[in-house]
Amino acid sequence: MVNKITVVGAGNVGATAAQRVAEKELARQVVLVDIAEGIPQGKGLDQWQSAPIELYDSRVIGTNGYDETEGSEIVIVTAGIARKPGMSRDDLMNTNAGIVKSVSESIARSSPNAIVIVVSNPLDVMCHVAKKATGFPRQRVIGMAGVLDTARYRAFLAEALDVSVRDIQAMVLGGHGDTMVPLISYTTVSGIPVTQLMDRAVLDKIVERTRSGGAEIVSLLKTGSAYYAPSAGAVQMAEAIVQDQKRILPCSAWLEGEYGQSGIFLGVPCKLGRGGVERIIEVDLTPAERVALGRSADSVREPMGKLSI
Ligand code: APR
Repeated sequence: MVNKITVVGAGNVGATAAQRVAEKELARQVVLVDIAEGIPQGKGLDQWQSAPIELYDSRVIGTNGYDETEGSEIVIVTAGIARKPGMSRDDLMNTNAGIVKSVSESIARSSPNAIVIVVSNPLDVMCHVAKKATGFPRQRVIGMAGVLDTARYRAFLAEALDVSVRDIQAMVLGGHGDTMVPLISYTTVSGIPVTQLMDRAVLDKIVERTRSGGAEIVSLLKTGSAYYAPSAGAVQMAEAIVQDQKRILPCSAWLEGEYGQSGIFLGVPCKLGRGGVERIIEVDLTPAERVALGRSADSVREPMGKLSI
């Protein structure tokens, strides 16, 4: 358990993340921050009042400022506007970049030693904005995308194979968007290569569905985007850090030559522990996967040129 975890943005993803953090007792205090007056306070109070039923002692509070967040060990950033039907992640970019920049500056002032987990979209670009605005080293600015994309992929595989989600190991790398790269060569069911258990055509359909996993939820919900799995993903990363678990999870990390890429955030396997990203692991890729990862990196780099902040 750490002393304090702050969640910025008390909307669907943020409030659910705060609830998950509290229920897992990852921090003594959980601080929800939002610009909307009353919303973080009301949700924080409501969550704290569920503590005697759910039996946790994490104290959840809500606020519109950063005084209460001071000295947070971890900050989860979910502030922004959510994707609407027909809206691409890139449409969101400049609005959310302005929001993430101002939030990040406040975090750097109030919690200069925090590890920041970014969830706001478009993810890889928002990570860049957060790193620049906080001035934090790359170990302490991490994007949540790969855990979510991999969870979607694993859920679809478990369903198709009628096996436990626990037994599906997989990695989805690359940018958080249509160009993400599910690594079929590293997808196993309790160590058995998935290609031995499933027709390639079925697998290809699952890969496609994973790629548009976010859009599928948006089109069903009509208003708003996914939040149960995204919040679970962010909290899994926070838990790996708080408990110093040294978990190997696909996260968006700042690359300095790894996978032949520099100067961008991209989804890669990372070791997460108390130091944040403690190691970036470079795995062998098939030629097709390497090309796909390069294409995905291009799709992250391209919109960065259109950033107006
Ligand atoms: N500071 C703090 N909170 C802010 C700020 C800001 N500067 N600007 C906006 N917010 C808040 C909004 O008031 C809102 O409560 O961010 C919250 C966003 O919540 P939702 O609209 O419910 O969006 P949500 O579904 O939670 O998604 C948040 O995560 O997965 C991504 O694409 C998604 O970028 C989006 C983010």
